Amino acid sequence: MTLAAAPASPGGAAAGLRHLAIIMDGNGRWAKARRLPRVAGHRAGIEAVRRVVEAAPDLGVEVLTLYAFSSENWKRPADEVADLMGLLRHYIRSEIKELHKNGVRMAFIGDWRSLKPDIVTMLEEARTLTAANTRMTLVIALNYGGQQEMVRAVRALATEAAAGRIAPEAIDDAVIEAQLDTAGLPAPDVVLRTSGEMRLSNFLLWQSAYAEFVVTDVLWPDFDRAALVDAVAEFATRERRFGGR
Ligand code: IPE
Ligand code: IPE
Ligand code: MG
Repeated sequence: MTLAAAPASPGGAAAGLRHLAIIMDGNGRWAKARRLPRVAGHRAGIEAVRRVVEAAPDLGVEVLTLYAFSSENWKRPADEVADLMGLLRHYIRSEIKELHKNGVRMAFIGDWRSLKPDIVTMLEEARTLTAANTRMTLVIALNYGGQQEMVRAVRALATEAAAGRIAPEAIDDAVIEAQLDTAGLPAPDVVLRTSGEMRLSNFLLWQSAYAEFVVTDVLWPDFDRAALVDAVAEFATRERRFGGR
């Protein structure tokens, strides 16, 4: 049976949606439409994160990756960057117990270790606390850029090669994958972007080689369980080929 023939039901597992990766976009536009400061949009965006993290496991999602702060987002005004970091602190602090109780394992990708020391400590603690949980893995991409991730992987492999610990001809796709921040995770089945923008913005460049791209016009702060069900149903209509026929 092809995926196209599968019912467009919200059965993530049935539809083979193991890893859902989301580019959470549109917080600024949501605030602007309400004549509110951008931070109000980011705050409302946190509520959308709560809703989606709660709904995703019910749809069979095993790994949920959320793009929270890109390597390029440092270009934003300092007060907005500070607001985003403050909201990250607030989210982890207020949600960690609940996430742990709900069996969510937390992981982080990107150069998150170069964030402020108190944030790094908090993220380390969240990882340790939830390490054995199995209901869903919540991956938060922080200070993440796909190109920067590849640069780090190449440097690590070049160091190994220069030290004679790996032969250049032994470097293949599996070896590269093992050096990425996402090592051990399945590739994303869906990259979903909210707010209608049709670009990857440096997100999971290697990993999304065969991801289905789903774009919704819904602004991230308005995203909810129903919007998630719609996205999963859209995925269920896609016929994946992976280069075959
Ligand atoms: C997404 O919303 C949040 C982050 C990128 C951190 P934006 O802040 O990009 O919202 P728009 O794109 O300006 O509407
Ligand atoms: C992508 O959104 C980054 C995150 C969602 C964290 P942006 O709003 O930063 O992307 P561009 O600038 O529109 O490409
Ligand atoms: Mg944006």
